[in-house]
Amino acid sequence: MTRDSFHSRIGFVLAAAGSAIGLGNIWGFPTNAANNGGGAFLFVYLVVTLLLALPALYAEIYIGNQTQKNPVSALGEACAERIPRFGRFAGKLGLCGAIMMLSFYTIVAGWMLAHALSAVASLVGTTDLSVWLATDSTVRNVIFTPIFIVLGALIVHQGVHSGIERWSARLMPMLLIMLVGLIVYILQQDGAMAGLKQYLIPDFSQVTNPSLVISAMGQAFFSLSIGVGGMMVYGSYMAKDKDIGKLVLSIGALDTFIAFLAGLLIIPALFVAQHAGQQVFADDQLIGEGQLIFQILPTLFSSMGTIGLVVAAAFFSLLSIAALTSTISSTEVPVAYLVEEKSFTRRKATWLISAIVLMASMVLVAFFDVLFGLIIQVLTTIMQPLSCLFYFIVVGWVWKRGNKLKDKARIAEHKWLGLWGNYLAFVCPILLTVVFVNVAF
Ligand code: PHE
Repeated sequence: MTRDSFHSRIGFVLAAAGSAIGLGNIWGFPTNAANNGGGAFLFVYLVVTLLLALPALYAEIYIGNQTQKNPVSALGEACAERIPRFGRFAGKLGLCGAIMMLSFYTIVAGWMLAHALSAVASLVGTTDLSVWLATDSTVRNVIFTPIFIVLGALIVHQGVHSGIERWSARLMPMLLIMLVGLIVYILQQDGAMAGLKQYLIPDFSQVTNPSLVISAMGQAFFSLSIGVGGMMVYGSYMAKDKDIGKLVLSIGALDTFIAFLAGLLIIPALFVAQHAGQQVFADDQLIGEGQLIFQILPTLFSSMGTIGLVVAAAFFSLLSIAALTSTISSTEVPVAYLVEEKSFTRRKATWLISAIVLMASMVLVAFFDVLFGLIIQVLTTIMQPLSCLFYFIVVGWVWKRGNKLKDKARIAEHKWLGLWGNYLAFVCPILLTVVFVNVAF
């Protein structure tokens, strides 16, 4: 059976950027930036992305692309000469990471969908429904999380080219247009300029603050979707030996650009809200992170009258779309494994995984106060960094045959390949360990 694949480089870049660009960019990045001094966070984020996150993304895509296999088999093959079992075990851990990610991500994505519909309900005059949709409740979670999971499954079961590639190419440009439209609108409101200043002019006295560096690091890893195998499986659907470095740079640039734009929208919006009399900050910190999107912005939108409702519907649709393209990449990880190793049909694998994700997310809904934050914490501060450390070690040390970064003849031909290989083998693991130890202890 031939493997399904992306049909073009741009198709791959859009799908991978679709995976990367999500709630992490539009919600996580501006929240982190607003809480960590604006410009200083932006600056550190860029440095960490260049030094560590992009190399990790490279390593992950490279392993998938060179082996042309799903993450469990890919890591098994890359580790075949030394630690094959451990390689497969790490692949399976990534698979669990993907399901963990989906279990909380689909809940939050469901909130976005509910808020988008709330604005529409308000526009058509069904106020009670609108208020219900905008109010957090277990019933709302129990309805909207499954809706979101089904939307993702409908795309994934159509396959890599017809589903993932085609939908990413449709949804990503839409997202960009909506985002730019919203920025143009917000920047014209009173108070926006103070926000713009805070965001764009870094306070350099803050850039060495360890908690800022750690937040920037976690944000960069989550934002680039590294460490759960999603990027690896996408890399495996691209023809071998393309110029991965360039593709990684394009994905990183798109992801960072959208995060930057989201900051350009949300930080000025916060200042507009503050200007209009809402209390947004206390001691330079946002009052409650959830409030950013679900209270401050909706209040701001509704103060703008009917146009505000249209803006709100556009904004929350934008978040839903961004979340959808991220959801499908994580779903593809276990689906590819079941199809390739357990001979499942794609349809059956997709619905089985979706059912598992649904169960996991309902457990989270049931024990929300205890589990929700914990799962996010475990995934982003432990599993993702450890997976990345493992990718660096695989590419730099464990993997011999088939690894072009360790092939002497090729390195003699392309000098930069040797340098790059050494950077991944020596510098990245040390940098990552230093940050990881700081996060964990
Ligand atoms: N990168 C996505 C975001 O920014 C989240 C994600 C993490 C997607 C891990 C896939 C895997 O929202």
